[in-house]
Amino acid sequence: MYYNWKDKTNTEELKIVCNLIRNGELVIFPTETVYGIGANALDENAVGKIFIAKGRPSDNPLIVHIADRTKIDDIADEITEMEQILIDAFMPGPFTIILKRKPEVPDIVTAGLDTVAVRMPDNIIARGIIQFSGVPIAAPSANISGKPSGTSVDDIRAELEGKVSAIVDGGETQIGLESTVVKVVDEVPVILRPGKITPEDIEKVAGKVIIDSKVFEKVIEDEEVESPGMKYKHYAPETKCTLVNYENDLDQIFYLKKKIKEFSEDVVVIGFSEHKERLYLPEEKFIEIGTKNDLEKYAREIYSAIRKADKLNPKLILIEGVKREGIGIAIMNRLLRAASYDILEDKK
Ligand code: TXA
Ligand code: MG
Repeated sequence: MYYNWKDKTNTEELKIVCNLIRNGELVIFPTETVYGIGANALDENAVGKIFIAKGRPSDNPLIVHIADRTKIDDIADEITEMEQILIDAFMPGPFTIILKRKPEVPDIVTAGLDTVAVRMPDNIIARGIIQFSGVPIAAPSANISGKPSGTSVDDIRAELEGKVSAIVDGGETQIGLESTVVKVVDEVPVILRPGKITPEDIEKVAGKVIIDSKVFEKVIEDEEVESPGMKYKHYAPETKCTLVNYENDLDQIFYLKKKIKEFSEDVVVIGFSEHKERLYLPEEKFIEIGTKNDLEKYAREIYSAIRKADKLNPKLILIEGVKREGIGIAIMNRLLRAASYDILEDKK
């Protein structure tokens, strides 16, 4: 079933949706980051359905979503001082913390790890569904495994319609990139996946922060990683994709044009408004993603833009990169994966 709660949550429908969750069914719902495909985290069978619907590798664990900080103790144990500082500072919000798990959390959720990822979304619909279901909700991003995360119901329906019992539409998600995932190691926060909560935000409350080296690097086969999600292909269109990221505008335009020529214009560029006129491409081959100064907009729109470009089925998708600072760190982390690390940029 499709439920439209763009303007406001319908309380009758909320009851239906929460019953589905309690009965072990899958529900797609919005959060402030991206849409999630959720199931009762304490019900193994229900969680199993998520892996099937997404085609997700079973060794990639899920995030457990709660509506209230007091519920952390139901699923996690031995919270350290630093973990508590981060919880107090960033929950609710676009933030996930890896904690020592309680045995009550089924193995299928944590992929057998002794930790569990916990997140408290800051979104009325998500919170309502978790609260009224009365159970923690395991929810990965709503997309087929390996594809960009779903940030609008139109995109999600095309991929997952028929594979879930309900889709709740809350409009486009505000942030557009998945939560910042953090694990505290020796009382220092380590960012395993960057997001809207930036390293500076974390450093401010924690005094220290480390960005895991895999955030910008390719993981070599069989390499051990802190977060299983780092190993997998992610956010990738079907079409070959190249990132172009030069600091200087003249270089940027030069290299974009060079690629466009190399591919005889059979390209789609995902680029900044200010570059549109300078590439002399037909209207339909340029997808505007806002200006260089508005990375929040970039983050919000990048996944739909990638999907849109892919549908046009060119030989090459060219994406303009951004500075690796602030939310730009998260954007570049996703873009590098989308492009399978194919990037043209200034020599370091
Ligand atoms: O914003 C988000 O986080 C969205 C919304 C729906 O909440 N969810 C999301 O879930 O992005 P997913 O499953 O697409 O990404 C979860 C990431 C994966 O990279 C996974 O490997 C990692 O979190 N993860 C989960 N449990 C973990 C654990 N115990 N240790 C390390 N990494 C873990
Ligand atoms: Mg995902």
